[in-house]
Amino acid sequence: MAEFLLPKNSKIKKGITHDAGAKNEGGNVKSFKIYRYDPDSGENPRYDNFELNLDECGPMVLDALIKMKSEQDPSLTFRRSCREGICGSCSMNINGKNGLACTTAIEDCKGEVQITPLPHMEVIKDLVPDFTHFYAQYSSIKPWLQTVTPEPSDKERLQTPEDRAKLDGLYECILCACCSTSCPSYWWNSDKFLGPAILLQAYRWLADSRDEMTGERLDELEDPYRLYRCHTIMNCSNACPKGLNPAKAIAETKKMMVERQI
Ligand code: SF4
Ligand code: SF4
Ligand code: FES
Repeated sequence: MAEFLLPKNSKIKKGITHDAGAKNEGGNVKSFKIYRYDPDSGENPRYDNFELNLDECGPMVLDALIKMKSEQDPSLTFRRSCREGICGSCSMNINGKNGLACTTAIEDCKGEVQITPLPHMEVIKDLVPDFTHFYAQYSSIKPWLQTVTPEPSDKERLQTPEDRAKLDGLYECILCACCSTSCPSYWWNSDKFLGPAILLQAYRWLADSRDEMTGERLDELEDPYRLYRCHTIMNCSNACPKGLNPAKAIAETKKMMVERQI
């Protein structure tokens, strides 16, 4: 009989409770269970409990995290920058769903709010995952306009309004990785499968009427893993906090693959 042993640090321990303080007793207090892990410490991960008086906190999950860090535990580590859903830094898993902390309202989170890093990524510390591999995959699709014909000296490369409209639903991607880290195929094959975020970005250039490397871009994706590990499970489109549809972009890419063989 095969015996499988989980790594020692896969067990999450119960951590510390930071209560809301005596002055908030009887107030509008909500509990947040936050994943804490410092791989360099040699300690197992733990869940710390933070209690916050919501009457003294901004409305979003990011406001709550900032309050915890400022008032209860300065070592709590997470990424954030724009606080308005533009930079993609604050992606994390909130009550079992990937999303952006800055655009998720606390009042939409039922009961105790459990916050963990994006699933199936190496953790650098607490809620900060390692994006090195994700960015390397992004770089691999050459995410810039590639042309062979020289740019006209007197004008920019222009598009018709109809061609420009084909980029809607693609250019808005903020590379937060909520989609890729909710995709079971990406969980198990992220070494070879590009995942929905990077495939949506790849299609953004395939769909651009000004780009002249369509054939080469498709050649790069023609691979049993890179593109075809998508099995249309659709988790990606459900997860996207920007309302984009990576599964549709992947389907369009597969269609282009078929059409070029006809
Ligand atoms: S549709 Fe494809 S990319 Fe999206 S979650 Fe499913 S398998 Fe992953
Ligand atoms: S498609 Fe959506 S979920 Fe995926 S990386 Fe882009 S913005 Fe994030
Ligand atoms: S802080 Fe920029 S997307 Fe949340």
